[in-house]
Amino acid sequence: MDHFDFKAGELHCEAVPLSEIAREAGTPVYVYSAATIRHHARVMKAALEPTGDPLIAFAVKANPNPAVLAILAAEGLGADIVSIGEYRQARAAGILPDRILFSGVGKDKDEMAEALAGGVCQFNVESVEEARTLSEVAIEAGLTAPLGLRINPDVEAGTHAKITTGTADSKFGIPAREAMEAFRIASRLPGLKVQGITVHIGSQLTDLTPLEASFRRVGELIAALRNEGIAIDLADLGGGLGVPYEPGQPEPPTPAAYGAMVERVSKGWDVRLAFEPGRLIVANAGVLLARVIRVKPGERHPWIIVDAAMNDLMRPALYDAYHHIEAVRPSGDHIIANVVGPVCESGDTFAMARDMDRVDADDLVAFRSAGAYGAAMSSGYNSRPLTPEVLVDGKQWALVRRRVDLADCASLPLPKWLLPR
Ligand code: LLP
Repeated sequence: MDHFDFKAGELHCEAVPLSEIAREAGTPVYVYSAATIRHHARVMKAALEPTGDPLIAFAVKANPNPAVLAILAAEGLGADIVSIGEYRQARAAGILPDRILFSGVGKDKDEMAEALAGGVCQFNVESVEEARTLSEVAIEAGLTAPLGLRINPDVEAGTHAKITTGTADSKFGIPAREAMEAFRIASRLPGLKVQGITVHIGSQLTDLTPLEASFRRVGELIAALRNEGIAIDLADLGGGLGVPYEPGQPEPPTPAAYGAMVERVSKGWDVRLAFEPGRLIVANAGVLLARVIRVKPGERHPWIIVDAAMNDLMRPALYDAYHHIEAVRPSGDHIIANVVGPVCESGDTFAMARDMDRVDADDLVAFRSAGAYGAAMSSGYNSRPLTPEVLVDGKQWALVRRRVDLADCASLPLPKWLLPR
């Protein structure tokens, strides 16, 4: 469910017509709906409440905009972070340290030290080598680091290869067969409090089966660890639940179905559960609003060239991801067309042979479901400015990230030896 609807023939975000935002903020621009973000946070809370008192830690990487994080902080969510930059963003948004999970396969010593001093619920550690480094950092700081080990359950997530993380030959986590030994080693290291186990097998999962298989693995390990006297208090079940992107396609399992599965599988674990949803909270709460620059005739289908490009929304180029494209003021006519951006790469393609609303030069189009991994993954490729972001909340709206001209950011004077003579 989202709050992007047609009123009087025009697509609105909550009460605001998208043409108003395009006029005042320019295009391309990301537009987020606060009501949708709050709704998704509440749906997730309601779905997971039956599992006890879960920690729902928003995966900041999906959308680190400060306004988005502030909304989620007010909803009582925590943060799943993967860099000290995300740690600072989460704290600045008012997320309490005991609601922050520090994930990631490559935390360095400085990042560990800063998060340890500032406080975290748990470091999700992905190797014995990382546990040793965390132990050294903790001893140096005279503190105890709360630790969970991420295990790799070796299940196929059934999603795009680039967003699969839980198969045997993956850089993520500790192979399940080595997990017991890794826990034994970590629990003997000074400066660490071994307290948790964590798993995350991939993103945009549209089937609960692989999730259930990996959670069962977690349950088996909790029991085996208890047998050896290693107490586990927190089981972090990661993120990954998919969202609907394409109209007419089968819908992914609902948060309620996911919650019911977790409740069933985790019965008797006697731990607190944590979750790291990213996409589910924000994907359908955002659109990328763009303007058609021109329509160029094509060999098979016309090329609709818009002012947004792969640097603004990378998902189609990187994962062949589908984003629904709608005219902001549909005429009622349809065409079959290719939709592309201005970047000088053939990969800068949003859709090929797409049956869509007919649009002409200067018309506005909305790329739907762009609130997760959209602005977060944008770049300044082709010296294009970073796309601004707008937050709508009922009738009000505000710019929450300026259009950043990266060409200006790189304007240091030339080194002396390169100056023209
Ligand atoms: N926890 C961990 C440890 C993760 O690595 C991720 C995502 C999440 C939670 C959140 O997953 P979610 O609930 O959002 O599926 N850029 C890609 C997605 C990459 C996901 C990376 N990790 C995309 O645009 O589809």
